[in-house]
Amino acid sequence: MVKTNLGNQIKSKHRVANHGEVFTNEREVNGMLDLVKNETERLDSRFLEPACGTGNFLVAVLDRKLIILKQKYQKSQPEYEKYGVIVISSLYGIDLLEDNVEECRERLLKIFEKKYVSIFKSRCNDKYIKVLKFILSENIVCGDALTMKNSKGEPLVFSEWSMPYNDARIKRKEYSFKDIFSPTLLWSFTTDSDTGETIVLPNVYKDHPIVNYMELAEHE
Ligand SMILES: C[S@@+](CC[C@H](N)C(=O)[O-])C[C@H]1O[C@@H](n2cnc3c(N)ncnc32)[C@H](O)[C@@H]1O
Repeated sequence: MVKTNLGNQIKSKHRVANHGEVFTNEREVNGMLDLVKNETERLDSRFLEPACGTGNFLVAVLDRKLIILKQKYQKSQPEYEKYGVIVISSLYGIDLLEDNVEECRERLLKIFEKKYVSIFKSRCNDKYIKVLKFILSENIVCGDALTMKNSKGEPLVFSEWSMPYNDARIKRKEYSFKDIFSPTLLWSFTTDSDTGETIVLPNVYKDHPIVNYMELAEHE
């Protein structure tokens, strides 16, 4: 079993009473993740933790993916960094409380950075860490997972990040959370696959030009 430091399960009685904030313990997190073990070990499989708190499930997924990342790419820093972007950009979270959102982002970044530094030592690139920080700021968001809106009443939006094979470029498409999870009828675009089955795609909320992923550091 992967060892994950999930911290304490409660911050305060007040927060338990007001926000139902009781974090899931490590044994339960890993037990549930074992049900989808193959997915937790696939670097590009996407995970969304709605009501993520400080990210106990996302942290455990990251721990598992980092083991695979190291096994596959520790001998090549460019490859490790590229697939590291794929790993970080596959993790999504929502929480009502801003402090939990901040803590979740920081936890994930710290875990990644610690492993990265232990492998590449003085060759680590600070600008690369800024790229990861930016992606986490877009993927772990503050809002209500039930109304699918933020505190300003705006729709929650998530980015699909994808990278061509053998390339350091990244493509970003944004979708509203509502469109992604709404019933098929609300989705506007359908197409047929080679096998004849209908594929339903949500509306693209915003389409970004493809760029070298290091350029994302400038948004941080
Ligand atoms: C029970 S904790 C679970 C945290 C984490 N998923 C875990 O398993 O450790 C509940 C968290 O859900 C958040 N929460 C409650 N209702 C929510 C909602 N409608 N949308 C987003 N977050 C919510 C709370 O702020 C709190 O951080």
